[in-house]
Amino acid sequence: MLVNMKQLLADAEKGNYAVGSFSVANMEMVLGVIKAAEELRAPIILQIAEVRLKQSPLHVIGPLMVAAARAAKVPVAVHFDHGKTMEKISEALKIGFTSVMFDGSHLPLDENIAMTKKVIAEALQHGAAVEAEIGCVGGSEDGSEDIAINCTRPEDAVRFEKETGVDALAIAIGNAHGNYKSTPKLRFDILEEVDRLTQTPLVLHGGTGITPEDFIRCSHTGIKKINIATATFDRVEQSVRAAYRDGAIQGYYDLQAAEVEGAYQNAKTHILIFGTDNKA
Ligand code: 13P
Repeated sequence: MLVNMKQLLADAEKGNYAVGSFSVANMEMVLGVIKAAEELRAPIILQIAEVRLKQSPLHVIGPLMVAAARAAKVPVAVHFDHGKTMEKISEALKIGFTSVMFDGSHLPLDENIAMTKKVIAEALQHGAAVEAEIGCVGGSEDGSEDIAINCTRPEDAVRFEKETGVDALAIAIGNAHGNYKSTPKLRFDILEEVDRLTQTPLVLHGGTGITPEDFIRCSHTGIKKINIATATFDRVEQSVRAAYRDGAIQGYYDLQAAEVEGAYQNAKTHILIFGTDNKA
């Protein structure tokens, strides 16, 4: 069933866990992720970032994500990730996304606050939730920009929460998008301070490559949503390669099945690490 992300994050707060937010690019990934969620009875979030709309146009993938969430046997929120323009954020809200992110992390804090408030006002009209980001998570969602990590200042998080009342806040604690060159060293001191000073559910971007131990520690320290993108894309590609290598692909529909399987396996792995199985 299609649900609001706010509800999933409130449940995660009570249950002391973080919900997996899986990036998807096509129908096969949507089907694979939902299959894992249903099998494990896990609440999940399906998301797509604005930079990915070049390959997966919003007017096509958006309704598909919403329809799949509605038909799912478990709670599924549909989220617009790293929204950059009001135009696309509005389009996602009209399609029925139950949450949107406004990424103003590159803006001065005052401007980030002002823009986030505008997005919240619009999202409210659709009953949707809003995520924002302060500090800079490294890299960009599609790897096209080499954005340096700029860790969140706890005092900025306090001000941001007070002035915007945003539903979820992405913070930068040494995490980055894409595959890490070496195991990331997350700044738990910053996370602990932000968690101590704020009540807003926190979001961890750049989930690919973070260790299971760090995921769990984050989810016990205020992180209630964890974004996974690269791991899904990599796993789907590997699944297709392996199926070709094993001679399992004899025609188009075998290729399609291998894609669904890759997305399913990746979602399953993460749901089990996050401990969100049997939470639906
Ligand atoms: P990864 O690609 O590192 O998993 O990051 C995903 C993400 O944060 C999407 O917003």
